[in-house]
Amino acid sequence: MSDSSDNKMWGGRFESSPDSSFYEFQRSWRFDRRLLPYELALDRAWAKGLERACLLSADECSQILRALDGIERRAKSDGAWLDNSKAEDVHHFVEVALIDVLGPVGAKLHTGRSRNEMVATEFRMFVKDAARSMASGVAALVEAIAQQADRNLGIPMAGMTHMQHAQPILLSHFLLAHAEAFLRDGERILDAAARADVCPLGSGALAGCAFPIDRAALARELGFSGITANSLDAVSDRDFALEYLFALSVLATHLSRLSEDFVLFASTEFGYLLLPDEFSTGSSLMPQKKNPDAWELIRGKSGRISSALVSLLMTMKGLPASYQRDLQEDKEPLFDAHDEALGMVRVAAGALAATKFNDAKLRAGATNPALLATEAADYLVARGVPFREAHEIVGRVVREAERGSTSIIELPLDALKKHSPAFGADYFKEVTLAASLARKSVPGGTSISSVRSALDQLHTRVGALEAVR
Ligand code: ARG
Repeated sequence: MSDSSDNKMWGGRFESSPDSSFYEFQRSWRFDRRLLPYELALDRAWAKGLERACLLSADECSQILRALDGIERRAKSDGAWLDNSKAEDVHHFVEVALIDVLGPVGAKLHTGRSRNEMVATEFRMFVKDAARSMASGVAALVEAIAQQADRNLGIPMAGMTHMQHAQPILLSHFLLAHAEAFLRDGERILDAAARADVCPLGSGALAGCAFPIDRAALARELGFSGITANSLDAVSDRDFALEYLFALSVLATHLSRLSEDFVLFASTEFGYLLLPDEFSTGSSLMPQKKNPDAWELIRGKSGRISSALVSLLMTMKGLPASYQRDLQEDKEPLFDAHDEALGMVRVAAGALAATKFNDAKLRAGATNPALLATEAADYLVARGVPFREAHEIVGRVVREAERGSTSIIELPLDALKKHSPAFGADYFKEVTLAASLARKSVPGGTSISSVRSALDQLHTRVGALEAVR
């Protein structure tokens, strides 16, 4: 087989061949070979398009289709063929292989088309598939969270703001808070896929195809819902990649925040959860250690996902309209961000599903009477005390309880009455953990009934993420 670097797609006007270090520098085959399945699909669609436009005979078209099948088979079975190729990029690789098999007929396939539109098309196809598998990974994660929320429904915990005990909540409510964020991620990822779903093919290098090619038929054949509207924009637009990277960055940020909660809750100080052996590692020195590496690595890797977004934004910002070679820098950060994010989502789902929650520790935290201070103020409000005044009164009760090393639910009634005559004997029945939870029964609140209906709705909403597949 001929050496691809001597068999370029653009040699004619050049007197000398490229400097060898420059040739290596500008090649993208190392990473864009990942687009080979999309390249082959595009080549097949283009061959048929050329036949429809009478630029290939039926026989030439079927020769090309057969040769493409052969290239696909060899690519699957002969890894060394791919590894040793000196091709400039994935488009060059197939063209050289095709001409190798078919000679002049193979040399006809590039009629009326440009790598500029090809790479834009194939990258869109990749992003659409990537986004769909990411959305289904995210759906599995949401399901793992929902299962834990379901299994542990009823366990109370100390809800915190500013990392200070605030009000009692259900563990399931805390878990479903994370699920909400991931549901939004799933939707955002599918939005990015929808934006990628227009086909640039027929845009040429920048000006549009010179032959009467049926763009809509090409788009349909490649699974696109429509075609791009402007050929110049079509070869220069990478918004779909930016949007996918943005969606991944937000997803990674959410995964990182979930990780932070789990690392903290696994600490001896909290002890809210037991790390699963299958998703933890030990220390080479300290025999007792079980470390939350799964969560730490997820948190750690989130940085490189957002860097991929920033990297492509920086590549794009100075580019004039139309295709520029800088655009070749779009693929590596996106491939890496996609692979890492998929790993993160899968590990998070596995680690979450295998986690055991420590009911006793969570309950112990939730029974801190200080968590009921707002409930006490609400009690006074129900007895006609204006809220601001009730807040002030309970604040003073808290201070007195603290001074006496007791709590706002253990002070005797006459001590409470000194702060406000509105306190009555029912205070001790009304200001309890159970009552506090039960009263948060608005939709979206932490009462068992609200959380149960949130769980019910969640199943339908997760379904929407998977329905697209
Ligand atoms: N490897 C190139 C890329 O990824 C393909 C398009 C090359 N076009 C060109 N005119 N050199 O962007």
